[in-house]
Amino acid sequence: MKILAIETSCDDTGIAILEADKAGNLSVLANIVASQIKIHKKYGGVFPAMAKREHQRNLVPVLTYALKQAKLQNPKSEIRNKKQIQNSKSEILNTILEREPELLKKLILFLKKYTKPDVDLIAVTNGPGLEPCLWVGVNFARALSYIWNIPIVPVNHIEGHVLVNFLNKLISNPRHNSRDSVFSDNTKNLFPAICLVVSGGHTQLILMKGIGKYKILGETRDDAAGECFDKCAKILGLPYPGGPAIAKLADSAPSTIQLDSTRGTIQLPRPMINTPDYDFSFSGLKTAVLYKWRDLNKKDLPALLRKALQAGMSAEVQQAIIDVLLKKTIKAVKDYKAKTLILGGGVSANQELKKQFQQAISQHLTVVEVLTPPANLSTDNALMIAITAYFHKNKTIAWQKLKTYTNLRISK
Ligand code: KG4
Ligand code: ZN
Repeated sequence: MKILAIETSCDDTGIAILEADKAGNLSVLANIVASQIKIHKKYGGVFPAMAKREHQRNLVPVLTYALKQAKLQNPKSEIRNKKQIQNSKSEILNTILEREPELLKKLILFLKKYTKPDVDLIAVTNGPGLEPCLWVGVNFARALSYIWNIPIVPVNHIEGHVLVNFLNKLISNPRHNSRDSVFSDNTKNLFPAICLVVSGGHTQLILMKGIGKYKILGETRDDAAGECFDKCAKILGLPYPGGPAIAKLADSAPSTIQLDSTRGTIQLPRPMINTPDYDFSFSGLKTAVLYKWRDLNKKDLPALLRKALQAGMSAEVQQAIIDVLLKKTIKAVKDYKAKTLILGGGVSANQELKKQFQQAISQHLTVVEVLTPPANLSTDNALMIAITAYFHKNKTIAWQKLKTYTNLRISK
């Protein structure tokens, strides 16, 4: 079985192709991401209308490239090439993509050039995410499903960030020779799991009792952790996206910075760190950074000192975020006697965060296995959508019924 997955919920255009054999062994045939960072960098954040436009431009080239890489590209012969898409079909295609005219144009050219690839399922993110961005991916999936007559599995983006962690188990576990051997026999070894999803739009602690069985224990009441990284970076004059920029600078920070004889080292608050729930709040941290940086970043500051302060602030912002995430997550792992801790979302690409989570778990909870994705699978990609669709391959829906849900939740 081959799954073609589409991800456009924010500012990354992703297409992946995943193959599963009858025994449940998975192979990644393609995983292409067209990043829009260069475009959004200029504005210091993601502009939904602009992201939508870029998805329209990128989807067909990314699909073409992914099919080529997967060796699934089927060019039409010269004669068939000239044949137009049937009138009745092109009318419906026009309706499906009426709000994405640029994508429609590119797709028509593509369909004139290539025949249906050997694909059995189309997976697409239908929420949560930015409404205009979600619609481009969803309408693209609807168009391909209609033209090629391939069923669609809608995928929750947050579940994708969680389940991408199971990819390696299915690809590289030499002992398993069927999907069931991992997810039936070993299920009791993995669950209950606590998942921490930390991205630009979400910060959620989720109790996972099995594939598809989730309960949100807590989440951020205001800014997400990634959003906090991005906003703090902007205040400090660092580029978008802020997470990697802060992480890089934090690495170079001196361990303590003596500001002057009276003010001591940089200290920022850890909002809600001691509350007895599993919720988070990061907007206060951002405000604290704003005031602190106003205070420190004086006009006549020598450039070298400014750089050192920026690095010191970065290290402290990063540590404040890690401290809060870590404390609440360890509490959840203990409270629910979790056997696995699963990290996911763009912020889980942070090396320091991964290191401190691994250390804390191995010091306090030796029985807990920690699953973290490699950096390229922490941030948005379509492979996470493909693997999620693989687990839910029976939940297909007709293209006519597919919608987007900007605030889609993993549990009630
Ligand atoms: O999951 P993701 O790619 O997109 C959303 O679903 O939102 O997450 C993007 C977020 C951005 O806020 C970005 O600053 C953050 O992930 N991020 C990081 C790192 N890499 C990406 N945050 C901290 N450290 C990183 N290395
Ligand atoms: Zn994401």
